[in-house]
Amino acid sequence: MKTDLFYYTGTGNSLWTARMLAKELGDAELIPISRTTGDRILSGAGAIGIIFPVHIWGLPRRVITFVDALAKDESRYHFAVAVNAGQVAATLIQLKKRMQGRGLSLHAGFELAMPSNYIPWGGPGPEETQIRRIEAARKKIGRIAAAAAVKEKRPVEKGPLWQNILFTGLNRLAFSYVPTMDRSFRVDEKCNGCGTCKAVCPSGNIDLPAERPVWLHHCEQCLACIQWCPQEAIQFGKKTPRYKRYHHPEVTLKDVLAAAPER
Ligand SMILES: Cc1cc2nc3c(=O)[nH]c(=O)nc-3n(C[C@H](O)[C@H](O)[C@H](O)COP(=O)(O)O)c2cc1C
Ligand code: SF4
Ligand code: SF4
Repeated sequence: MKTDLFYYTGTGNSLWTARMLAKELGDAELIPISRTTGDRILSGAGAIGIIFPVHIWGLPRRVITFVDALAKDESRYHFAVAVNAGQVAATLIQLKKRMQGRGLSLHAGFELAMPSNYIPWGGPGPEETQIRRIEAARKKIGRIAAAAAVKEKRPVEKGPLWQNILFTGLNRLAFSYVPTMDRSFRVDEKCNGCGTCKAVCPSGNIDLPAERPVWLHHCEQCLACIQWCPQEAIQFGKKTPRYKRYHHPEVTLKDVLAAAPER
């Protein structure tokens, strides 16, 4: 049975997860969500995996628009992996409901804790913690692939009740502000006008007049621009000059550029 693995990523954790799943599953194709187009996305595969980062305790907007465009097929198996930094909250419940509203079933949903790419709050922490998380994730991916291979149906994974109530509320409050959260980005004197930030952006939200980035306020807050800038010239708020940049150690800029929309 062929599996289509649709992934969305900012800093490579979800791309790496999709890659590891493909390796375990064998007959699988990796498809970047940012490169899908149209309002009817078709798949000839017998199974679909949706792999994405948790953003503000919920689904990134681009994942929502992808799911809304996914063509219905009742015979197909669907599973999802919500890649997070320790707080999946009710993200997979949100996905299941969204899919149900479209006549699609989410047969299994797994949370996967990985290093945090949320640099405004400090990012992934010490290297030993990152390595430990990635190794634990590697083992869990083996278990997810084993379940997906036999089309196992199971309840979606979720956080503790307090998290689901409180953080889902915060997600609802914050969601409409995400496109303009790019107002907190600025560029410093280290910028050399290389254009990587513009190229890596999944939403075409960066322009480069006079070889300096300008954010256009339809941001997805994936943080690819700040994390992949080779000069570390992009800052968000006051603290990021102090923090190390993060991307998954086995994912390169070239890999992420290949997942960005074709322009
Ligand atoms: C805007 C934003 C919000 C985030 N919110 C959460 C969150 O609510 N819970 C959590 O566990 N991780 C959160 N994270 C961390 C990411 O989900 C996590 O680092 C993920 O592995 C990144 O995947 P990627 O490298 O594929 O982009 C957030 C990251 C960003 C950029
Ligand atoms: S990636 Fe960094 S150095 Fe390159 S144009 Fe953007 S901000 Fe400037
Ligand atoms: S501007 Fe930066 S954070 Fe916003 S969508 Fe583009 S790459 Fe992601």
